Amino acid sequence: MAGKPKVFVTRRLPAAGLDRICQQCETEVWPEQMPPPYDLIRQKVADCDGLVSLLTDRIDAALMEAAPRLKVVSNYAVGFNNIDVAAATARGIAVGNTPGVLTDATADMAFCLLIAAARRLVESVHYAQAGQWKTWEPLGHLGQDLAGRTLGVVGMGRIGYALARRCRFGWDMQVLYHDTYRHEKAETELGARSVDLDTLLRQADFVSVHTDLNETTRGLFNAERFEKMKPTAVFVNTARGPIVIEKDLIAALKNGVIFAAGLDVTDPEPPEPSSELLRLPNLIVAPHIASATVGTRNAMAEICANNLLAGLSGQPLPAWVNPEVASKRRTSASG
Ligand code: GLV
Ligand code: GLV
Repeated sequence: MAGKPKVFVTRRLPAAGLDRICQQCETEVWPEQMPPPYDLIRQKVADCDGLVSLLTDRIDAALMEAAPRLKVVSNYAVGFNNIDVAAATARGIAVGNTPGVLTDATADMAFCLLIAAARRLVESVHYAQAGQWKTWEPLGHLGQDLAGRTLGVVGMGRIGYALARRCRFGWDMQVLYHDTYRHEKAETELGARSVDLDTLLRQADFVSVHTDLNETTRGLFNAERFEKMKPTAVFVNTARGPIVIEKDLIAALKNGVIFAAGLDVTDPEPPEPSSELLRLPNLIVAPHIASATVGTRNAMAEICANNLLAGLSGQPLPAWVNPEVASKRRTSASG
């Protein structure tokens, strides 16, 4: 019988997935809090059959080139912009991600940032903590109403739809969306209207980004786009940091071009300690925690393990980023 496949896991994951990986594979888990350096991953995968990566690990062509046995990269994330998928496909390497299970948690975080930014919650809590709360102020801490306003969803996929549903049924909002594809269910069930981006920016009270990061969305939110938004608008990004030109967002927030913003993602992550992103009263920055619930992270770990094990045994991956690799996958090591 062939030996167990060899696997490198770039961080400790919930036992819900990691235990099975450790049982079925000869597994090395990177034990540190900080990511393993690129060169170290590259050395580790040189004789590995499988790799479990995080969104903080760059998995590029040079790294895969150094891994002649690698059959599968299982990313512990729904996003996979950290992986050169075309390079993986060209080498017969299957790539998996963890879609679906983080939809509700991420939509909840988008809404959490939206309502907290609209109601100036973080700024107000800091005010109370600093001992500045002296009395009830008729004109203090005024934010924006939510009920009956208009949500603009940029990227109507699973997460955008889940946010739109919350806003439609919980807050009676109108929903506009912008995407390359029509989302029929959003239109029929939520009354969402598909519009061009300019219309969305001009008409929405709240703009929330749910696209993936690719060459058409990189830098999408720049000065010109913020200028089109209402001065009362709240902007939310739970997708990927580089979709936003941060210096343009900072200027828009400082100059009252928009009212407030909430980010769960930045570029880079974390921001430089000196970054104004961490100092603006009308900007909430969370440390990329949208999927951080016990249930969601366990479910992600299960899918991640399922993808890895399927990849090692030549089965179709349950969540397969590059199914087009099927006909040229690397076969099992003879052992
Ligand atoms: C988180 O950002 C993910 O892509 O899962
Ligand atoms: C990704 O778009 C997801 O909702 O899982």
